[in-house]
Amino acid sequence: MNRPEAQVEILYSAGEIDARVTVLAEDIAGSLGDDLMIIAVLKGSFVFAADLLRALHHAGAHPQVDFMSLSSYGTGMESKGTVTVLRDITDDVAGRNVLLVDDILESGRTLAFARDLIRDRGAARVEICVLLEKPGKRKAEVTADHVGFETPDLFVVGYGLDYANFYRELPYIGVVQNDTVD
Ligand code: IMP
Ligand code: MG
Repeated sequence: MNRPEAQVEILYSAGEIDARVTVLAEDIAGSLGDDLMIIAVLKGSFVFAADLLRALHHAGAHPQVDFMSLSSYGTGMESKGTVTVLRDITDDVAGRNVLLVDDILESGRTLAFARDLIRDRGAARVEICVLLEKPGKRKAEVTADHVGFETPDLFVVGYGLDYANFYRELPYIGVVQNDTVD
């Protein structure tokens, strides 16, 4: 498949992201303690989760990490709310302090589903960390405990976020210009 050509304008530079991730890690270690389990929601969060993990080391934590791949299906452009597990975690979360890590909190359906699943499996605490939050788009009842940036309602790519599964490799977060998206 060919990469869709798009004009990408930098919204958050690599340096800005790095500084924010450092602060987030300190907040998370202060809130959840040093013995925590990170569950990264794939695919979008993998770059963020990797940087956050290393920042947590510098913040004195020694987290374990697992991955979960979720998909929300629907007709049309917006997900309609049915979330399915494409790949489940393999670790036991019972009694653990869990940090769910995702790229963007938008409708909240994906993270509400993940949070309920991990709670039902007996986690002691579940907190949510997202790199970006788009306010005013919430459809499910979910609040992020740790937010990288409150971002305007624009389509963004880079730092793990994709457009048609491309652009994840950009070291910054950029806005795809409207006239270049079909
Ligand atoms: P929701 O909160 O369940 O609606 O899921 C949000 C998901 O939609 C994110 O995890 C992304 O995968 C995707 N998404 C939302 N906005 C954007 C964007 O601007 N760029 C790339 N992916 C996005
Ligand atoms: Mg996602």
